[in-house]
Amino acid sequence: MTELSDRVVETRRTDPASRECVTAPQRAIPPRGKVAAGESVAIAMTVNGTDVTVSVPARMHLADVLREHLGLTGTHLGCEHGVCGMCTVLVDGDAARACLLFAVQCEGAEIVTVEGLGAPDDQHPLQQAFSAHHGLQCGFCTPGMLMSSYDLLANGPKGTEVEPEDLPEEMSGVICRCTGYRGILAAVADVAAEHPEGLPGPKNCASRTLVGRGGGHSTATPGEEAADGAVPGAALPAEVRMPGGAPSATVEVRSTLSAPVEKVWAVLDDFDRLARCLPGAELVEVLDGDRYRGRAKVALGPVKLSFEGLAQVIEREPAEHRLRVLAQGADTGGSATQADIRLAAEAGPDGGTVLRADAALFLSGRIAQFGRALAGDVSRRLFEQFAEAVDETARTGAAPDVSSGPSPVRIAVGAAVDAVKRAAARGRQRVQAAIARRRAR
Ligand code: FES
Ligand code: FES
Repeated sequence: MTELSDRVVETRRTDPASRECVTAPQRAIPPRGKVAAGESVAIAMTVNGTDVTVSVPARMHLADVLREHLGLTGTHLGCEHGVCGMCTVLVDGDAARACLLFAVQCEGAEIVTVEGLGAPDDQHPLQQAFSAHHGLQCGFCTPGMLMSSYDLLANGPKGTEVEPEDLPEEMSGVICRCTGYRGILAAVADVAAEHPEGLPGPKNCASRTLVGRGGGHSTATPGEEAADGAVPGAALPAEVRMPGGAPSATVEVRSTLSAPVEKVWAVLDDFDRLARCLPGAELVEVLDGDRYRGRAKVALGPVKLSFEGLAQVIEREPAEHRLRVLAQGADTGGSATQADIRLAAEAGPDGGTVLRADAALFLSGRIAQFGRALAGDVSRRLFEQFAEAVDETARTGAAPDVSSGPSPVRIAVGAAVDAVKRAAARGRQRVQAAIARRRAR
């Protein structure tokens, strides 16, 4: 049994000079009574500006909750006993080792992780400086370095007036196994010099949906996995909510179809037939409120993902042949995706149709490792195959057979070919630029 009642919890703040943790301002935790070791506890906290409630075992540490239950995999784990500093986050404004804090100690706390520091298109000055000074090699220590340097410049005794010669010792609480310290220290020194008036606060702390490995919304208790590995319906949210911030990838696809626009719209307007045109997708249940439960398979090389999710039509404009769908899905391997998809059909050349698909994609977990470019390529291929299937369905009047639907393999191969073409084009540009420079000398 773990005694959780009437305790005052010390959030632990890193003291870089000693690599030890010192006590940060103390918070009183509401009494809870005794909790058995394997029993779950509901914990409410604010993570990157979003109020969340997770139900986790009392012995689970904060880093695992952030990574496994909220999908915030930017917080890395190295040693898991307080030495390496990889797991550094801000707890109530102070740096803390997330591997040394039980999540239950963070009841009511405000947590900021590296995801809250800045967004890809709106980076914090520290992130910009790390990039400009090549302050990372493999990048594994980077989240810890960023959060630790944030704490140093925001809360350290000298703030941004810290002396550059003191930085090696001040930053020694996080270990870089690639030993790329020079760039890291130069980046921190640069930001300190550029902000004598004080360090700007985190830039990406807005309310959003956090989706963890269980696939449920962060405010819901993650459901149990079904025997077949599928995420049970109860774990899915009642409605789809899009995260704030920049999407992982955006896709714009224009396809010219031979079928007339009214017939194309008839397919788009019928969710059953529309779902059959999506590669690897299957409609499982029609719910009220233009909501649909379904599953989808994505295969990319050895990575095979099976998503279960919810789609919701939030705009349907028959006169303008426009449809807007929000979709959210998760697989049991820890991948989660959300998408805001807009489809529009308009009359095209020779009595055909121009089908436009615009999508903003939010990826987390294993699928996010595909990277932006690859995720964009895969999605683009997926929409191109979707358009082909819509065209065929509109022309023949028959819904495509799911089993003979567009192939995930073709998507993967097409995306890989796109990636190779892009790399070749970049290589050509570099060679041409080098030749031009040589001629100019
Ligand atoms: S993982 Fe927390 S200090 Fe190493
Ligand atoms: S850049 Fe690789 S561990 Fe620091």
